[in-house]
Amino acid sequence: MRFFGLSAAKVLSLCAALACQVSAAPSSPASSKHVSKRDFGPVTVYTPPSTFEKERSLYGRSVVLSDKTILATSEIYDPSADPNKSFFPIFRSADQGKTWKQISQAKDQVNNWGFRYQPFLYELPAPFGGFPAGTVLLAGNSIPKDLSKTQLDLYASTDKGLSWKFVSHIAAGGKALPNNGLTPVWEPFLLLNGNQLICYYSDQRDSRYGQKMVHQVTSDLRAWGPVVDDVTYPVYDYRPGMPIVSKLPNGKYIMTYEFYGAKEGGFSVYYKISADPTKFGSATGVVLKATDGHVPVGSPYNVWSPAGGANGSIIVSASSDSDVFVNKGLGEPGSQWVRVKTNAPKAYSRSLAVGINRNTEFYIVAGGELNQGPTNKVTFTSQSI
Ligand SMILES: *[C@@H]1O[C@H](CO)[C@@H](O)[C@H](O)[C@H]1NC(C)=O
Ligand SMILES: *[C@@H]1O[C@H](CO)[C@@H](O)[C@H](O)[C@H]1NC(C)=O
Repeated sequence: MRFFGLSAAKVLSLCAALACQVSAAPSSPASSKHVSKRDFGPVTVYTPPSTFEKERSLYGRSVVLSDKTILATSEIYDPSADPNKSFFPIFRSADQGKTWKQISQAKDQVNNWGFRYQPFLYELPAPFGGFPAGTVLLAGNSIPKDLSKTQLDLYASTDKGLSWKFVSHIAAGGKALPNNGLTPVWEPFLLLNGNQLICYYSDQRDSRYGQKMVHQVTSDLRAWGPVVDDVTYPVYDYRPGMPIVSKLPNGKYIMTYEFYGAKEGGFSVYYKISADPTKFGSATGVVLKATDGHVPVGSPYNVWSPAGGANGSIIVSASSDSDVFVNKGLGEPGSQWVRVKTNAPKAYSRSLAVGINRNTEFYIVAGGELNQGPTNKVTFTSQSI
């Protein structure tokens, strides 16, 4: 599920129809933790020019590479570009997020539609599919200017994000609007699992579901296996979306998602825990409710860090809140989600990353807010755990 591509009025009417709360986020009560002296940001990664249209920038994503440089990207809305040549700008920081430079443009090289929505960056932790460890993978949604098609494609960079090469088509879908009955695919997320790479994504192609969440696997980065359901609900109108998965130290995996249809309302954040990252389908989704009773809403992201105690910390971001929600009990039944204040702006949407300074910090890359085009920019915020 996503909203961009619609006018503000349309988003609001869609929201009214779906009872969503995209721009009606609750204000934050006092947090349980103060931001520490080591923390910094938000630092500006990229300010889109005023000539950009609509939201200007959205959907910030980042990856901490094994050499400790950080790459970031986002959707951008440049009306001056050749209509079908939209791309994802790639930014790099070599000083742990303090300064940023654009180093490349990840372009659609095969469809002549451009790369428009939902970029995702991932570093191969091991050699895979003929590429060495340290190869940076980019998955994104290639969509023509007229939004008539969606195509999740995979690219690779063997020079730390300086250049990109098309690798394979992952999934093809229909018109890029989040309406029931249309058949787009959205929001790819990659995870290497032994000798398979998993691509999770949101899928409107199954006529039984307005939207469901699925995955496909590949063992060579080129041929992708069948579509496997991860999250479905029996009510057609329900829309689980935005799959993000992290491995936990007990060998299990957590998947967070937004769930329109949740009894808590809006696109409440839910999660599933599974011992097998290809078998979320049989796990039960539960709501993420913080100890103060708050249920975050929309566009969740999660990351696990070994810092913060024997189980480490699961950190979850959502578009309803500047704060994040931290679980030190592996997300198991009875474990607590504690609200933690951050200096990062709310955004549609934000990504989380760890990997520098012994994982004792986490990083938030925010892409900008819906309906806030003139003030939107891509930012980076660092915070100790
Ligand atoms: C952009 O892509 C659409 C969909 O494939 C096509 O109809 C249109 O002609 C393309 N426009 C240009 C300028 O290439
Ligand atoms: C680790 O997680 C388990 C499962 O939730 C919990 O029982 C245990 O108390 C946690 N340990 C710490 C140190 O928080």
